[in-house]
Amino acid sequence: MSSVFTQMKKTASYCATEIQKHDSVSVVSHIDADGLTSAAIICTSLQRAGIEYDVRFVKQLDETIIEDVANINPEVVVFTDLGSGMLETINKYGINAVISDHHQPQGTGEFHLNPHLFGINGSYQLSGSGTTYILANELGNNKDLAGLATVGAVGDLQHLKKGELTGINRMILKEGHANGVVDYCKDITLFGKQTRPVFKLLQFASDPYLPGLTGNEDACIKFLADIGIRFSGDERWRRWIDLEVPEKQKIVSALIQHCVQSGIPSYKVERMIGEVYLLLNEKEGQEMRDASEFSTLLNATARYDHADVGMAVCMGDRGDAYDRAKALLYEHRQNLVKGLMFVKENGIIQMENLQYFDAGNNIKETIVGIIAGMSTTVIGNRNKPIIAFADADSGVKVSARGNQDLIRRGLNLSKAISEASIAVGGTGGGHDIAAGATIPASSKQEFVTILNQIIGQQLR
Ligand code: C5P
Ligand code: C5P
Ligand code: ZN
Repeated sequence: MSSVFTQMKKTASYCATEIQKHDSVSVVSHIDADGLTSAAIICTSLQRAGIEYDVRFVKQLDETIIEDVANINPEVVVFTDLGSGMLETINKYGINAVISDHHQPQGTGEFHLNPHLFGINGSYQLSGSGTTYILANELGNNKDLAGLATVGAVGDLQHLKKGELTGINRMILKEGHANGVVDYCKDITLFGKQTRPVFKLLQFASDPYLPGLTGNEDACIKFLADIGIRFSGDERWRRWIDLEVPEKQKIVSALIQHCVQSGIPSYKVERMIGEVYLLLNEKEGQEMRDASEFSTLLNATARYDHADVGMAVCMGDRGDAYDRAKALLYEHRQNLVKGLMFVKENGIIQMENLQYFDAGNNIKETIVGIIAGMSTTVIGNRNKPIIAFADADSGVKVSARGNQDLIRRGLNLSKAISEASIAVGGTGGGHDIAAGATIPASSKQEFVTILNQIIGQQLR
């Protein structure tokens, strides 16, 4: 792994030399946590190097956007967390591009940094933010940005495959640890340890789903009281970080016992404990302290057309931007709950090799993928990938999510989604485990039929 890291640094250095030839750089990045942290990493390093920059965020890179970018006639464009799937189009428009991405490449480019070119799987061994961290460190000493690189990897759920970050992600993590910016340890994986009252961790647990507790506030409060947890302090609810170690251990063993008694398979119960990541320069009790909470805060901005807010938080704004991000996070949570309820009420349609639901205009296209991913842990069948449709301005948005077992059996959603979308006149791509596309509104039925066949061949 360390020799690959060295090789990637060489390519990064080649890309950095191109960037340094210019006084101003245009950055184009993706509207999710990984895209925001990628942009913040490259922009911080440009700022430190005295290079001017402008930045724009896009849902996905299509020909229209590439044409727009080309029309501005920029000296050089750095694409982060996207670009590798659109190399031919970028070349066609003659853009002087540096690409720092981890999606499966289609085509070739001169200044192209991507883990797949080094035999590293971009779906779990290196994020867009990690790739960009490597690039940034060839522009100067930007080792303090390892925290943001970790947040991007966690935002893309790259730590889930092995219960901890691996591959180049881990090398960056270790580098950040050595430099005192990040820490990692085993802890409960439920969401909200820094900021939420303990009972909320149980109430909103989705992986594993806690029978009788998930979704039931009173039951969660009673569960904690029954095992003697003083769950309310003087005037405010205690959070996970406020608990003593023996109290935490007590909760974990009670939850494990509860899951086992409810018949949850042990591989799922085990997911309750995993590696968690802390940003040591951030205040305790704020989202930014915990990589998972930080990434959700960022998704709550960028996926609702407020990437500027999330970007400002990444660049250090703890005043106005942070307040706005928290308000957006509140809405994002409500939308996730509503979205999951929609899926539960309307059901998932089963085909031989896939399952799908059509959210129409009930779920925003930018979060339908998150809901698709969450819905399999709550209701879906884990033996088939899940596909979700949502209405979008330019047609229908498709989001697809698989799991490790399916990948072991041959599933590659990036390839399947890309082929099926081309067949109906759309475009798509992504990773083996998670992919997306935009297709014409009238082609949903044809699309799932073709996709069902392709996935059937992959899983054979
Ligand atoms: O565009 P990008 O590469 O940043 O997105 C990756 C997507 O893959 C994320 O939306 C993430 O939630 C999803 N993913 C997943 N399950 C995994 C790994 C990634 O749903 N195990
Ligand atoms: O949008 P969603 O979260 O479902 O995206 C899943 C993965 O598919 C992401 O990595 C995203 O970058 C990729 N994708 C793509 N082309 C699209 C839509 C999504 O490559 N048109
Ligand atoms: Zn990414």
